[in-house]
Amino acid sequence: MGAAMRKARQRRLVVPAYAKVNLGLEVLGLREDGYHELRTLFQTVELHDDVAIELRTSGVTLACAHPAVPCDASNLAWRAAEQLLRHAGERRGVALTLVKRIPVAGGLGGGSSDAAAVLRALDAMLGLRLGATGLYPLARRLGADVPYFLFGGTALGLARGDEIYPLRRQLEAQVVIVDAGRPVATSAVFRRIDAGLTPRENSSTIYRFVSSDLDGSPGYQILTNDLERAALEEAPELAGVVRRARALMLRAGAFFTSLSGSGSSFYGLFDDAHSARKAVDLLRGAGVTAHRCRTLSLDRYRRTWERALRTAGARPTWTQ
Ligand code: C5P
Repeated sequence: MGAAMRKARQRRLVVPAYAKVNLGLEVLGLREDGYHELRTLFQTVELHDDVAIELRTSGVTLACAHPAVPCDASNLAWRAAEQLLRHAGERRGVALTLVKRIPVAGGLGGGSSDAAAVLRALDAMLGLRLGATGLYPLARRLGADVPYFLFGGTALGLARGDEIYPLRRQLEAQVVIVDAGRPVATSAVFRRIDAGLTPRENSSTIYRFVSSDLDGSPGYQILTNDLERAALEEAPELAGVVRRARALMLRAGAFFTSLSGSGSSFYGLFDDAHSARKAVDLLRGAGVTAHRCRTLSLDRYRRTWERALRTAGARPTWTQ
């Protein structure tokens, strides 16, 4: 590819923005900043949105055909673009186009992942070379889940869920995600748990799960999601779907099932594609919308990004 062509190509990039599930989520207490002190395990999955980023002479625009996605400054991807342009002292603008596949307000981090994708892509397109570490403060300001998507894979999230520690053991599984088709507002779920919240300095389940890396047994069964009960109180019509989906997934052979984040998406993990396919058939037979995909490790996450940036002729900054 000639230099002129490479330069022209760099003006437009299409990158994937992957979804996450929470493999366990503990709420330890309310923080002084109004957020909650969390301990969670994040896991990226192959289900993804596509984010197209095109450099323009000025301003930010956003287009998305999904009726529930705002196309103005209330969209996190828009704010990510604005913040990065300001940070870089860049006068040019950006036109964003989102193709949404990740259920909206479903606890799968779609909005946060789109925002992180914009940061990553613009970093490369503008040749800023900030990398994950340099983008971290910007990501953190945008939202508690955004920093995780700068890394991906299996990672421990502490503090507001924005202090990220990638784990040595990267989990591999087939994933079946149920789209309950009912958005749930994260802030409402957190507000609901406050009434019954007993502050805890510590809790042992995620600690035990992570440290089992050292002595063998994976022990998924010990993981729980502290938001599940509040989410089902917030959206009582979800309870029936979750109960049915859990029973069908376990029947098909799931070794773990859980609500993701504050819901409404519910998922199951499977050792093999055959059982996962069986679960999807059972769920669809019961009138439940389900997607099958695989987990995405830290390495695969990084490689798909490198590929996306390289096709556009932009130099990847992952390895910084
Ligand atoms: O940071 P973000 O805007 O993604 O968080 C959405 C909402 O979830 C916050 O407004 C807050 O109500 C709640 N939240 C929380 N504690 C966290 C993360 C999120 O209370 N650690």
